Amino acid sequence: MIRHDITEPIRLEVDQIYHLACPASPVHYQYNPVKTIKTNVMGTLNMLGLAKRVNARFLLASTSEVYGDPDVHPQPEEYRGNVNCIGIRSCYDEGKRVAETLAFDYHRQNNVDIRVMRIFNTYGPRMFENDGRVVSNFIVQALQGTPLTVYGDGSQTRSFCYVADLVEGMMRLMNGEHMGPINIGNPGEYTILQLAETIQKMINPDAQLTYKPLPQDDPKQRQPDITKAKNLLGWQPTINLEEGLKMTIEDFRSRMEAEES
Ligand SMILES: NC(=O)c1ccc[n+]([C@@H]2O[C@H](COP(=O)([O-])OP(=O)(O)OC[C@H]3O[C@@H](n4cnc5c(N)ncnc54)[C@H](O)[C@@H]3O)[C@@H](O)[C@H]2O)c1
Repeated sequence: MIRHDITEPIRLEVDQIYHLACPASPVHYQYNPVKTIKTNVMGTLNMLGLAKRVNARFLLASTSEVYGDPDVHPQPEEYRGNVNCIGIRSCYDEGKRVAETLAFDYHRQNNVDIRVMRIFNTYGPRMFENDGRVVSNFIVQALQGTPLTVYGDGSQTRSFCYVADLVEGMMRLMNGEHMGPINIGNPGEYTILQLAETIQKMINPDAQLTYKPLPQDDPKQRQPDITKAKNLLGWQPTINLEEGLKMTIEDFRSRMEAEES
């Protein structure tokens, strides 16, 4: 284990680089947007430079955010996206778009062996209580008995992938022959209100909902087209939302009880 800020170069001997470093929750990536875009641009350059130097295979954890607020649904990899380059999400979504560009340019110019995966909303045990993404927010609020915060009217949709499924897809991509980009996500699509009600039902049916304004550029809908992942990687998710939530809730419950005692 080496603690290192990837905006600074590093010299290592490695065969494979899983490049995941980047704050992924809006609260965290918007806390220091300049640092976020530095991580996506300078950090990715440093990791690609490392891959080039030691001849390592490089996998970029890109995101469904490269599709922005999509006007094609579900989103296939060919869709070029609808992204605001000057909005509050740009440090993250435009940052990841540049990261993809860098990966493909290093591949074309320097023959770096790249893999690009576009991850759709992923959740699971061991997320931080203050992560700030919707699944953990709702779980923590329901366990604490406070109202679940819904942004907008809750009709916006997301597709939630359980972390173990995601990791399996990521390793198949890294160790397979296809460069990508490849969508990895669970096509099960839910409105945020449905997610809130599901978690309410599973933890505390009396939990209230509270509504807040929708943040700027919040995507209205999100669902991966995973045809490529199925055909090229033989991958598809195996854990549905209720099963995944059950395991995630149990983990949050035991950690929060341990903190209290
Ligand atoms: N979880 C998702 O739903 C999701 C969706 C799409 C894409 N992704 C991508 O997958 C990756 C991992 O996501 P996550 O949910 O685990 O994110 P996270 O925010 O929970 O964790 C990100 C990690 O990156 C580290 N990091 C951030 N900046 C760094 C820097 N400059 N140098 C070194 N380390 C740095 C943080 O310390 C943290 O450990 C990210 O690149 C994210 O963009 C995740």
